[in-house]
This record gives sequence, structure tokens and C-alpha cells, in this order.
Amino acid sequence: MKIVLIGFMGSGKTTVAKLLAKKLRLKAIDMDDLALKKSGRKSINEIFEKDGEEKFRQIEYQVAQDLADCNDAVISTGGGVVVNTQLMSYLTKNSLVFYLKADFDKLKIRVRMKKIIPPLFKNEALARNLYKTRQPLYESYANMNILTDRRTIEMVATDITAHIGETNGRE
Ligand code: S3P
Repeated sequence: MKIVLIGFMGSGKTTVAKLLAKKLRLKAIDMDDLALKKSGRKSINEIFEKDGEEKFRQIEYQVAQDLADCNDAVISTGGGVVVNTQLMSYLTKNSLVFYLKADFDKLKIRVRMKKIIPPLFKNEALARNLYKTRQPLYESYANMNILTDRRTIEMVATDITAHIGETNGRE
């Protein structure tokens, strides 16, 4: 089974993926972690600052390519994967995709609580714009939208496992 979690920065993809992987006895794989390993840099922020966003997107693309045939894993993605169609075809190959959906203002609060603010969330107006343009893309790739506002990580993971159970039952 290959499960892919998509959504904007601050939607909880990495935390939910870890819990979900534990519940389902799968591996948790984080695309940003893999991109960081390939980059040789110390942080995603450093990749953006020293190499530029384009370089980050190239690495992210290679990571998605590497994950095309991955199995028995829950993959947490970077918030920007949905803008590249070819990347998404590798990433979502033989997978179930869940969109962790939240209001922008909720995401803003969650991101501000992080130790490191992601590079594309440093400017709030730009982040809000990105959110607007990406929202329909997340929805178009998702097998299911999972609402995360006012819901705990546990509740979100339970929603996903329930949906996986239903999907398997239908097959
Ligand atoms: C990005 C989201 C980040 C990271 C990079 C770019 C984006 O991941 O991949 O900073 O374009 O939305 P998270 O969504 O895990 O914060």
C-alpha cells in the first residue's frame, strides 16, 4: 500500500504520516527529508537561499521519481508538489492520495508555531496567494479531502484509516 498526503504548509502532513504509518505498520517517508539528503545542505531554507527555489524543485522532482514504485509507505510531501504534473504522476502512481485541508488562517497559526518558518511562508500575502492557486490542485489530485480544522492528529489519522478500510472493502 502506498499512501500520499498532500496539502499546504502547516497542514500536518509529516506528523499525520508518522502516526498513520505506525497504525498501519508502514514506513513513514518525508519528501523534504529526502530532498535535504540529496541536496547536501543543512536545511530547506538553506537550499532556497543558496541554490534557489528552482534547484529545490529539481531535487523534489527526482525524489518523486525515486518514489514512483515505492510500496508499504505513507509519504508526506512538500506543499508545492502539486504544481508539477509529471512529478505528480510519479508520486501518485499506484497510491491513495489524501488532501489535509485547512483554512489559511489556521495554517498561518500552525506555521508560526514552528521553529523554522518555511521559505514560502515568510511573506504572508504571497503565501495566501499560493494557497489560493494550489487549493484546486490539491483537490484535483486527492482521492479524498480530509478536514483538519479543529481536529487532532489522532482524529485525522483515524479518518484516513476508515477511508482506507472502506476502499479495501469495495475492491
Ligand atoms: C514548500 C513546502 C515545504 C517545502 C518547501 C516548499 C511549498 O514543505 O517543501 O519549503 O512550496 O509549499 P511543507 O509543506 O512540508 O512545509
